[in-house]
Amino acid sequence: MNILVINGPNLNMLGIREPDIYGRKTYRDLEDFVRTAFAEAGVSGDIWQSNHEGAIVDKIQEAYGVYDGIVINPGAYTHTSVAILDALKAVAIPTVEVHLSDVDAREEFRRISYVSLAAKKTIKGKGFEGYREGIRYLTGKDADR
Ligand code: DQA
Repeated sequence: MNILVINGPNLNMLGIREPDIYGRKTYRDLEDFVRTAFAEAGVSGDIWQSNHEGAIVDKIQEAYGVYDGIVINPGAYTHTSVAILDALKAVAIPTVEVHLSDVDAREEFRRISYVSLAAKKTIKGKGFEGYREGIRYLTGKDADR
């Protein structure tokens, strides 16, 4: 099984951006965490980040026929992007949506997620652990599947 982890805008700023919300670990730490989670789950995978909506749409389209699952943290595009939703629907690759913070406990506008309309599962407020849970879910080994 081959899994693609996509991170959207400003996630490259982890460790610097709003540490009270996102913690002090860096994006590099997240990359290491996700690669360890791939190994633990016995899957191959890649982790990729972009600040650009169109680049994320391109990456999702390119995933067609290459990846069996997507874990995506679309960052702020979660709450605005019909284009990312449509791309996920177009490729129809099983997708888990992950948010480091509990988006439901923050500003009102963060409660809307277009991406969740295409996601099999949404994990919020669990920090890096959410990515591991998402990867495990896609392998079908998770008890609460
Ligand atoms: C986020 C939550 C979004 O609302 C925010 O715009 C982000 C990060 C999270 O991981 O908690 O950039 O997706």
